[in-house]
Amino acid sequence: MSEVIYVIKNLCKSYQLDSYTLDILKNVNLSVKKGDSICIRGPSGSGKSTLLNLMGSLDEPSSGERIFYGQDISSWTDQQKAFFRRDKLGFVFQFHYLLKELTVLENIQLPAYIANKPKKKSLERASFLAETLGLKERLTHYPSQLSGGELQRTSVARALMNQPELILADEPVGSLDKKNGLIIRDLFFELQETFKISLIAVSHNSFFADAFSSVLMLEDGNLKAD
Ligand SMILES: Nc1ncnc2c1ncn2[C@@H]1O[C@H](COP(=O)(O)OP(=O)(O)OP(=O)(O)O)[C@@H](O)[C@H]1O
Ligand SMILES: [Mg+2]
Repeated sequence: MSEVIYVIKNLCKSYQLDSYTLDILKNVNLSVKKGDSICIRGPSGSGKSTLLNLMGSLDEPSSGERIFYGQDISSWTDQQKAFFRRDKLGFVFQFHYLLKELTVLENIQLPAYIANKPKKKSLERASFLAETLGLKERLTHYPSQLSGGELQRTSVARALMNQPELILADEPVGSLDKKNGLIIRDLFFELQETFKISLIAVSHNSFFADAFSSVLMLEDGNLKAD
């Protein structure tokens, strides 16, 4: 039996607007074991990105708990959250958020730079990831000089840079053709097998989603088996 690494308990997220409250997540529960692969689907606006942001400590819930290895993330300081994101997490954002003044190679290396990792090893790993993801000819391009799929692949490479223990990926193959999407799928599952990392991804692409051991549906603020 694998160890439980992350538990989400009765998680709720509401937004207070001028005249009404928008309840997006209403009591979401989830238990993630080491090596799990969970794909989340659900209609646009159902709260998938909201949930990943909360799990990644990028946002605060209205109520409920996020327990990572027995610790309640809401009790952490901003610095503890930053260390969690830096050292444990690989986040692939739906809209990438690459730094526009850095090149592809520099964007990929950024997490290692922030973590003060040795330069030579970081460069080797960044180059390896870039090559695996078909970005070898684009290393010195800036984000404004990339296609949508290249931006996406750069952002996946950046998420993998520090060998995360948990990957939270928001539509990581959404702008990709099947061939490139399969490269990302295979890379994710190779890491999952070799290092027993846990994968949580939002995806509507069946060639990608079918590889996950469970597929959950976020609908009406709740997470259910698909
Ligand atoms: N700051 C905010 N204030 C008010 N409403 C918000 C805010 N942020 C998000 N929302 C609303 O919360 C809902 C959930 O947003 P979210 O981005 O999580 O959806 P999603 O499931 O990821 O959708 P998509 O598939 O389109 O990416 C949306 O209807 C959005 O309008
Ligand atoms: Mg989204």
